Amino acid sequence: MRALIIVGLFAGFALGAATPVHAQEAPEGERLFRSRCASCHAVAAGQNRIGPTLAGVFGRAAGSVEGARYSQAMRDSGITWDDESLDRYLANPRGTVAGTTMTVALANGEQRGSIIAYLKALN
Ligand code: HEC
Repeated sequence: MRALIIVGLFAGFALGAATPVHAQEAPEGERLFRSRCASCHAVAAGQNRIGPTLAGVFGRAAGSVEGARYSQAMRDSGITWDDESLDRYLANPRGTVAGTTMTVALANGEQRGSIIAYLKALN
C-alpha cells in the first residue's frame, strides 16, 4: 500500500514537472506573436494581410506564398525559413534581406525564440 502511494507521488511529480515546461513556451510565443506580429500577419492558411500568412512558414522558401505582396528582395533572397534564418531576419530584417519591406525588428533573443517555437508548432 505504501509503495503504491509512493509510486503515485512520483508519477504526480513527474507530470507536474513536465507540463509547465511544455505549456510555458507556446502561450508566451502566442502572446508575443499577437502583440508584435499579428497586426500584419495571420496564421491561417491563405490569409495574407500587409504581410504574408505565416501558416506553414517553417521550412518554406522565402517569398513563396501565392497572392502575398513581397518585395523583389524577399523573392530573390534564396532563404529557407528555419530556426537560424528566422532568428536572423527577426533580429534585423533589413540587415538580412536588404530591401525588405518588413522593417519591424525584435531585439530580444529570448522573445524571438518563443515566437519561432510558436511558428514551428503551427506546421
Ligand atoms: C508592420 C507590419 C509587419 C509586422 C508588425 C511584422 N511583419 Fe513580418 N512581414 C511584413 C511584410 C510586409 C513582409 C514581406 C516582406 C518582403 O517581402 O520584403 C513580411 C515578411 C515576413 C516573413 C517572411 C515570410 C515569407 O513568406 O517569406 C516572416 C517570416 C515574417 N514576416 C515574420 C514576422 C514576425 C515573426 C513578426 C513579429 C515579430 C513580424 N513578421 C512582424 C510585415 C510585418
